[in-house]
Amino acid sequence: MTAPLRAIRGPVLNPLPEAGVAWWPDGCLVGDDRGDLVAVGAWSEVAARLQLDPAAVPASAGIILPPLLDAHIHVPQHPIRGRFAEGVEADPPGGRLLASLERNVFPAEGRCEGPAHARHVVADFAADTLANGVVGGAAYMTVHARATRIALEQLPDAWSVGLVLMNGRCPAYLRTDEPGLADDVALLARDHGRRLIVTDRFAVSVDTPLRRTGVALARRHGLRMQTHLDEQRAEKALVEEVLYPDAGSYTAVYARDGLLACEPILAHCIHVRPDEVELIAASGAVIAHCPVSNTLLGSGVMPLDVIRAAGIPHCLCTDVGASPTTSLLCEMAQFLKVHAGASAAATPEEALRLVTAAPAAILGLADRLGTFAPGRECSFIEVASATSTPPATARDAILGGLLGMTEADLAAWCRADDPRAAAVRRLRERGLDWGADLAALEADVRDTAARLEHRVRRVTRRGRVVFTATGTAPR
Ligand code: GUN
Ligand code: FE
Repeated sequence: MTAPLRAIRGPVLNPLPEAGVAWWPDGCLVGDDRGDLVAVGAWSEVAARLQLDPAAVPASAGIILPPLLDAHIHVPQHPIRGRFAEGVEADPPGGRLLASLERNVFPAEGRCEGPAHARHVVADFAADTLANGVVGGAAYMTVHARATRIALEQLPDAWSVGLVLMNGRCPAYLRTDEPGLADDVALLARDHGRRLIVTDRFAVSVDTPLRRTGVALARRHGLRMQTHLDEQRAEKALVEEVLYPDAGSYTAVYARDGLLACEPILAHCIHVRPDEVELIAASGAVIAHCPVSNTLLGSGVMPLDVIRAAGIPHCLCTDVGASPTTSLLCEMAQFLKVHAGASAAATPEEALRLVTAAPAAILGLADRLGTFAPGRECSFIEVASATSTPPATARDAILGGLLGMTEADLAAWCRADDPRAAAVRRLRERGLDWGADLAALEADVRDTAARLEHRVRRVTRRGRVVFTATGTAPR
């Protein structure tokens, strides 16, 4: 007996696994009772083939696309999103990142020791990510096994969650309790398998013995790892010149200690030298590229062409709390802006692939999510279009429909006389200064975040509606 069909009709964007995006201005998705996809394509073709009755098929609430996935985000920083660097003085000695961690981030993470607070933070995170169409990814929790368990239990099954390891340059209340670590990981891995991700915060806060303990645990339990790498110049100098002067490079610290062999998700990779790119490319590691965070923290611009040429898998991620929003649409817009003119690869189609098909492959979810194809999950989001005229191409549908940008808006980011474009050039060349550059880019990001948040009208997972927006979408 074949399962009954459920269909939806509307404009459909389908990011393809390797490259490109299929676009059907009048398309449809058909799922079965089990929540699997049966068909996707042009309405005329699918309706004729499956003999669908047009009167019985509902119209979508917007542009239909696969659910979004965020492979680098910090759950305990959700309450301070956008306030990551609040109150940090101009040009602090160790750089903006380290000063922000100390002032705002570590205290926020410390508060998750209490289970009631952790539950509340995870619930808000789950609701807000879902409202922005994000159904899974890889998240950092805290050093607390109890809080990590709460996140693993409360977040939908497409989320991996990291128990954070750190033992240096952090407050005593956030130091990993090494004697208890092996037991904590064993219990969490037993109950949650590969959804647990061993999380070395970064080389500044984790010494070699703790890192090697983490690597051994990851190997023993068949888990992957995640960390931060080469985010800011001052951080890189601290790692390479002070903490690990014999390693050769920041990346070599992770190679030497075995982390690079644990399929790590490496966040940022901005200040990578050619020898580091080679190490990463040879290792099977992947990169979480976070343009909003990299802009607001003045970190720099990831060398997209270098990473692509080396064949290193990468995807777009928010790095909340460094980003003010969990919206990956905002991240797509910032990706287009910071690489405008500098990389032919930064197209609207590529931006969409980097929040759907690419992270699905990176997270091991490609058999279920990321691209519409028969046999995968009947999971999709509907995004209110920002344009009143129906888009003709995939590029128009993404740039205008999803991101509310015109070709002229995008071209401005290539112009020599645009102050924001000049600020991005300086961000790429030497990191932002504290003055007008940061103010111009910060105002633009916050405006984009406000505009693109909550444009998702509905989220469907395996054929069931799991989120419906109330009110009208912002214009
Ligand atoms: N490096 C180490 N920890 C963090 C963090 O929480 N956020 C960012 N952006 N970078 C980090
Ligand atoms: Fe991060």
